[in-house]
Amino acid sequence: MQAVVYTEFGPPDVLHLAEVQKPVPKDNEVLIRVSAAPVSYGDLAARNFKNISAGEFHMPLPLLFASRMVFGFNKPKINILGSEFAGEIESAGKDVKLFKEGDQVMGYLGQRMGAYAEYLCMPEDGSLALKPANMTYAEAAAVPYGAIMATSLLRKGNIQSGHKVLINGASGGIGSAALQLARYYGAEVTGVCGTPRIEYVKSLGADRVIDYTIEDFTQNGETYDLIFDVLGMSSFSRCKNSLKQNGIYLLASFKMKPLFQMLWTTVAGSQKVICAMASEKSEDLVSIKELIEAGKFKSIIDQCYPLEQAAEAHRYVESGLKKGQVVITVGHNNK
Ligand SMILES: NC(=O)c1ccc[n+]([C@@H]2O[C@H](COP(=O)([O-])OP(=O)(O)OC[C@H]3O[C@@H](n4cnc5c(N)ncnc54)[C@H](OP(=O)(O)O)[C@@H]3O)[C@@H](O)[C@H]2O)c1
Repeated sequence: MQAVVYTEFGPPDVLHLAEVQKPVPKDNEVLIRVSAAPVSYGDLAARNFKNISAGEFHMPLPLLFASRMVFGFNKPKINILGSEFAGEIESAGKDVKLFKEGDQVMGYLGQRMGAYAEYLCMPEDGSLALKPANMTYAEAAAVPYGAIMATSLLRKGNIQSGHKVLINGASGGIGSAALQLARYYGAEVTGVCGTPRIEYVKSLGADRVIDYTIEDFTQNGETYDLIFDVLGMSSFSRCKNSLKQNGIYLLASFKMKPLFQMLWTTVAGSQKVICAMASEKSEDLVSIKELIEAGKFKSIIDQCYPLEQAAEAHRYVESGLKKGQVVITVGHNNK
């Protein structure tokens, strides 16, 4: 089969099309004919992992070491990127009960990756769900990562109907899903993003959008029940005056200091810091599929690139110009 592979870390040019072994499903696995796989934060990071400094890595240092164990120190250990996808089940192992040949599905592979390819295998009890009937493959492929992470993280932030919520990083994979879910849960949502993505974040349903290059949300006098900072670009000390009395400062990316602040705020003060790791639950993806079919959640595609132009897709995302999801599509021209 054809796949986009990389055998050294570096700029987008390290990605190239190659012929690789078609995977064979185990008894508990399905073989999926991939139709689309978006370019996510994780793909960009993994492609250039050797050159990511501790400062650029938004998590505690021990996790950088753990991630290097997964992605490689000097050479990539994983040679095919792509952590989420949509496609059709071509065959199923003999023990598979939940899916059948011909099912249209979307899924999340996490750090295993492998979706920039014509085929992939995954266990039936992984993060896999039927594709929403009202979405194209490209739209559905862009759902699983952000939706799974945002569902889990917002749960940890104890979001409630009527809450006033601010999402710092509302235009990204996790933030765009968190914004829509927070609106669905009945919160009033302010999204913070860069200038090119203001209209995109508005179109996701934000009640208010702040351009972080123009306005500092910690200085405008507004207060929130929940501030969800996806990249950890703000700080608890700067956000304290923007949090209500029992407000929560929720981080998806954090270093050691916020971890100590989390411990401290469990015993002192009414405002809480939560540094949260998302847990992957396949039932969350099934719930999102239902939300999508009810018209409550969407994905907005900026550009699609064919598999052979994966490097171009990465270059476009890194240009900072994207206004929505960028998706690699798999044509299966040889079939
Ligand atoms: N805790 C967990 O379980 C977990 C799970 C998965 C990922 N993560 C972490 O989540 C992060 C990736 O999130 P993602 O996939 O959503 O990334 P992403 O798609 O690259 O989005 C990043 C977001 O941050 C915004 N941003 C960039 N610079 C900013 C600034 N100076 N101020 C405010 N916002 C800024 C971007 O806005 P513009 O693009 O509009 O400029 C964009 O909305 C990584 O740090 C990863 O380690 C954590």
